[in-house]
Amino acid sequence: MMVLGIETSCDETGVALYDTDRGLVGHRVHSQVALHAQYGGVVPELASRDHVAKLAPQVRTLLGETGVPLKDIHGVAYTAGPGLVGALLVGAAFGRSLALALKVPAVAVHHMEAHLLAPMLEAEPPAFPFVALLVSGGHTMLVAVEGVGRYRLLGESLDDAAGEAFDKTASLLGLSYPGGPALAALAAKGNPGRFRFPRPRTDRPGLDFSFSGLKTFALHTVRDHPDDEQTRADIARAFEEAVVDTLVIKSLRALDATGIDTLVLSGGVGANRRLRRRLSELELERAIKVCYPSVELCTDNGAMVAYAGCVRLSAGQKETPGIEVRARWPLAELAAPTADALG
Ligand code: KG4
Ligand code: ZN
Repeated sequence: MMVLGIETSCDETGVALYDTDRGLVGHRVHSQVALHAQYGGVVPELASRDHVAKLAPQVRTLLGETGVPLKDIHGVAYTAGPGLVGALLVGAAFGRSLALALKVPAVAVHHMEAHLLAPMLEAEPPAFPFVALLVSGGHTMLVAVEGVGRYRLLGESLDDAAGEAFDKTASLLGLSYPGGPALAALAAKGNPGRFRFPRPRTDRPGLDFSFSGLKTFALHTVRDHPDDEQTRADIARAFEEAVVDTLVIKSLRALDATGIDTLVLSGGVGANRRLRRRLSELELERAIKVCYPSVELCTDNGAMVAYAGCVRLSAGQKETPGIEVRARWPLAELAAPTADALG
């Protein structure tokens, strides 16, 4: 089964073809970074309009590059939430319409389920059960994953998501959007040990996160010290170490609490090299296995949507033809993909 995946939940137009026999046949991501940079963040209306302009050409180019004719597409998967409603509607309307024209089924994909299943696209996919650490711009979650659609939320952010904290602190340090990768690059030039940021909520039991205090801590540190390049790099370094440490401490706690030995890292912050390195070191130190998608599949992309949709379509999931998207959509509301689950 060959599935076309479409991702338009935020500021990337992602398209991909996933085939049950051939694996990932091809994928393309168009980033809107240049479009939003002058505003310092994503402007929803501009995002929607750009998806409208780029989506069809991206699909056409993908089909040309991979040599896959439209008639070989057996299903269409699109992100239906959570995300920006206008942006989601572009992918949903396009996906449903294309499926209708091709007389194939379409499936609405949950963006965080797609992130969670992204490591399945790698050469050595994780086996169920695993604990997923999902760290994106809008969400920070620890989820016990027993199988597709069998998710138990173990902990989540009570305020800012990890990516959001990266973006806000980057902005404080005078870095341009998107802040996460820029802050990580600055942190690489920072000296360890000059500043120490707190590791929020690690001194008490529980698996929830709270990152908004780190942003305030960064604000005070910036204010109380000279404004030079090395100081900014040292602050970035201390901030990044605090976020990484906090994520690692809670992930290990989640593995201990569930008795599961496999950790899956995914979402945009999963592209962070310090976090990946720390988790790899832990794999050597402890009897745990850590899996993550390649850096390009950690951030938003169509491949993970094509894969998640393919799993659900292969299991016979059927949906009514209406075009519906959701800005908010708790992961725990998803059911396992059986033909009669959604009817
Ligand atoms: O998953 P994603 O691409 O989009 C959402 O679903 O939100 O995540 C985007 C987030 C942004 O906050 C971005 O700053 C962050 O991931 N990010 C990073 C890195 N690359 C992207 N944060 C830290 N280090 C990185 N290398
Ligand atoms: Zn995402």
